[in-house]
Amino acid sequence: MTRGALNCISYQIVTGDGSCPIVQSALVRRRASPRPGGPIAVGADPARDSGGMTRGRDPAYPHSTAVDRTLGRVVVRSHARQSSLRFLEVDGHMYGAVDLHDPQRLELDYLARYATLLDAVLPAGPADLLHLGGGAFALPRALGVRRPELRQVVVERSAAVLRLAQSQLGLRSTKALRVIEGDARDVVERTATGSVDAVAGDAFVGRRTPRRLSTVEFVTHVARVLRRRGVYVVNLIDGPPWRVLAAHAATVRTALPHVVAVGSPAVARLCESGNVLLAASRQPLQRSTLAWRLDTGPDASALVGGGRLAALAARSHPTRDR
Ligand SMILES: C[S@@+](CC[C@H](N)C(=O)[O-])C[C@H]1O[C@@H](n2cnc3c(N)ncnc32)[C@H](O)[C@@H]1O
Repeated sequence: MTRGALNCISYQIVTGDGSCPIVQSALVRRRASPRPGGPIAVGADPARDSGGMTRGRDPAYPHSTAVDRTLGRVVVRSHARQSSLRFLEVDGHMYGAVDLHDPQRLELDYLARYATLLDAVLPAGPADLLHLGGGAFALPRALGVRRPELRQVVVERSAAVLRLAQSQLGLRSTKALRVIEGDARDVVERTATGSVDAVAGDAFVGRRTPRRLSTVEFVTHVARVLRRRGVYVVNLIDGPPWRVLAAHAATVRTALPHVVAVGSPAVARLCESGNVLLAASRQPLQRSTLAWRLDTGPDASALVGGGRLAALAARSHPTRDR
């Protein structure tokens, strides 16, 4: 996969909760290209991706705006110096980034990690992938270039986001990448049993996954639409004391008992806030194979320890529809 240049910065994490080192040096890879000013990263890891997006630095130019009644103001910005690099900002949060000239470029770290994880869990050859939440449609487009044999369907609830993705972010619906305007839960409930190899959740309102996409009833439907070896992956934003991760892990494993979680190395040690990708399946997920694939991916990634994840899930309760 072609990637933006990366550079390394070293810094120290200071924590005092006993489970993380008190002072720990870390080496973090960050994309070298500058980021626009304004939004706080949401779909993206706020601890890392917002690093280059602090207000007032290196401003990006607003291109087009629209308003969504649920989400708020939707803005597409162009990068100040690379006009083909566009950012989708929703209600002040960074929801996605896409390079119009290079769809394989995943500027946001969590999306690069997400692509590596999906590539690792999908079967070789043709496969069916259902994405929940379109945003900038960066992830499905990057995967479509990397794996042209994939059949992808993307559900996006917001007409405003969809319109801007089509007019400003170069999105085209094709046979290999079908776009549905609608609610992810409604679409999952209508999807045929045993018809997809992976469901990729990245639907956000503000900084959270909507509740109707976070319950036992919802993951039961997700499990139903997955093929026997199918995998459900969902992007979460969380940090100590990891209540969101714990609740999702407890919920997801009611229908898909084999669960792993992936993040940046500091997030995977549960020492730093950020994006966590939770992956769940009926069949055991090969931790060693996944660890190797993540290791060779574009971003430093690691698995949350199996025991620590199980302990988190055990201290939470599955979330149910009200
Ligand atoms: C962080 S963005 C997704 C980024 C995307 N993965 C990409 O590759 O660019 C989250 C999106 O989820 C959408 N969304 C929120 N709730 C939804 C729902 N119930 N059904 C479908 N989409 C939803 C939002 O409108 C927003 O566009």
